[in-house]
Amino acid sequence: MTNPRSSAIQYAHENSTRFLNELKEFASIPSISTDETTKAAVLQAAQWVANHLRSLGMGNIQIFPTAGHPVVYGDWLGAGNKAPIALIYGHYDVQPVDPLNLWLSEPFTPDVRGDYIYARGITDMKGQIMVALDSIEAILKTGQLPINFKFLFEGEEEIGSPNLVTFLGAHKDLLRCDIAINPDTGTLSPDIPCITYALRGLAYMELRIFGPDHDLHSGIFGGAVLNPAQELCELIAGMHDAQGRVTLPGFYDQVRSIDPEEKEELARLPIGDQYYLNATGVPALYGEAGYTTIERLGTRPTLEVNGLLSGFTGEGSKTVLPAWAMAKISTRLVPDQQPSDVYQQMQSYLEAHAPKEIRWSLITMHGGPASISDRNSIYIKALSRALETVWHKPPVFKREGGSVPIVLDFQRILGVETVNTGFSMPDDNMHSPNEKLHLPTWYRGIDTFIHFYFNLAQ
Ligand code: BES
Ligand code: MN
Repeated sequence: MTNPRSSAIQYAHENSTRFLNELKEFASIPSISTDETTKAAVLQAAQWVANHLRSLGMGNIQIFPTAGHPVVYGDWLGAGNKAPIALIYGHYDVQPVDPLNLWLSEPFTPDVRGDYIYARGITDMKGQIMVALDSIEAILKTGQLPINFKFLFEGEEEIGSPNLVTFLGAHKDLLRCDIAINPDTGTLSPDIPCITYALRGLAYMELRIFGPDHDLHSGIFGGAVLNPAQELCELIAGMHDAQGRVTLPGFYDQVRSIDPEEKEELARLPIGDQYYLNATGVPALYGEAGYTTIERLGTRPTLEVNGLLSGFTGEGSKTVLPAWAMAKISTRLVPDQQPSDVYQQMQSYLEAHAPKEIRWSLITMHGGPASISDRNSIYIKALSRALETVWHKPPVFKREGGSVPIVLDFQRILGVETVNTGFSMPDDNMHSPNEKLHLPTWYRGIDTFIHFYFNLAQ
């Protein structure tokens, strides 16, 4: 008798070119969720996923409209009552492509160069969705699926999943499952299998500073009024102290500290400062005093300026004292910080520090708390064994600095743990020009998921 795992893996290898072609088709759809003008393309991507689920023989496929972009649902419950139900989560939306002139190939014309395929959304996360689905196809076409599946694909992850929490609450029964699988995270390098057991949360804000009621001549008025651009910089500068710590009042109060065992484990990760120097091109690293780079990224909260706008920024010079200035500011959160607390802390900071010469407003945007999973759950063990089978070495365990805010809601609303996985890499240019996916790792990812699904049945 042939082994069902090896039959499925053989099928995956025999169909690798078609799998790649289907991924190219998916990645050709410009499903940018931030932009009103690409709304139709986002819907088209939802339909593409729904059709693909249908072609795999999945049932109960529905495209649920929301106040924003739709949610795609599907399921396959043929493995019986005793087998677990895995909820596969994913997002079919992608980030904007700008700056377009830095792309070496068209962002929505997937291009294979060497071991990589380049396209917007290829690694974040259309390629990862296809890992989860191609492995299901391989098992189905060569035998029987060992577990039950439900699918939940959203089109708003890249804008903070504004409608998914409501959707989870309204469809708790439909989404009832034993474990959620989120393939929207990654690994460290092609030869290091990796499990992500924590994600940071996010609280995103816009700070606006208003001075004069119109732009002024900087000679006629400079010296008589406080410049909003200057004041914005002062306020931002005050948000960190000399130790690189965030100064918002109470910011660290709810931060959970890590135990010595986890600290040691993180110190053993085969990745260090040189890696981050190479990946970023900065002359030296920077961060909160008293923590290693890996600790700063995974276990500590941060505050970042994402963008600044004020006054004259065109070519040449114009003497102007701007009427206003604004900054997009985000904080990355760790357990047990709450975004709502952080918004309040920013409000208090501004009340205490903003001078009377300007007016200000704080707009709170999207956010979500951090999440952390039990590293020893049977589900993580099933993934760990699958990675070890394919890579011939056990995975390392890491905390991710990035965010997938809905993961905590799977715990809170659906009452299930999430296994984070995926095969992106830190140097894949996520959200940047020339986003890429390492194809040999992608194919190994499909093999891994075949083992993972079989392991989950045991
Ligand atoms: N896939 C990423 C999260 C991620 C990044 C996982 C790096 C693993 C490694 C996800 O699509 C993402 O970019 N999330 C946003 C959050 C969202 C609320 C805009 C992020 O982290 O900025
Ligand atoms: Mn992303």
